[in-house]
Amino acid sequence: MLSPKLLDALNDQISKEFFSGYLYKAMAAYFADEDLTGFANWMHVQALEELTHGERFFRFINDAGGRAVMLPLDTPKNDFNSPLEVFEYGLEHERFVTGRINALMDLARKESNHAAAIALEWFVTEQVEEESNFSSWIKKLKMVAGDGRGLLMLDQEAAGRVFSPTALTP
Ligand code: FEO
Repeated sequence: MLSPKLLDALNDQISKEFFSGYLYKAMAAYFADEDLTGFANWMHVQALEELTHGERFFRFINDAGGRAVMLPLDTPKNDFNSPLEVFEYGLEHERFVTGRINALMDLARKESNHAAAIALEWFVTEQVEEESNFSSWIKKLKMVAGDGRGLLMLDQEAAGRVFSPTALTP
């Protein structure tokens, strides 16, 4: 059972997760245009993961007796000037998402909705990994600075990322 307030907040989070996927597809398009196909792959996989995050919320809402609603998505940023700018923007976005997840957890606890709190725990942990991933790329990109050879090596590393669907049910 979900309160109207918690249901609205969870539905809003579905749109945030799907928007994240939309943003990372825009980043994949930037990298593809720059012929950095490894980073394009990394962002493509990231976008797919965001869809699974949205799906987890969708399924939890249904299982808890609520009705999932698809809300409008904003237009993501499409123009970037460098790989470093892309990942710095991505880290800021993930920090924003972390704030939203924490606010959801606060609401679930305030309402003593233990099932929602347990479902949200997965996302709290996931956000630590999400921020860490983006921070790590920022550090590496700063290390190679403007060195093209270093950038191509990082691009090769990014090419190795594969999509492995996480469990969809909370
Ligand atoms: Fe769904 Fe990247 O957080």
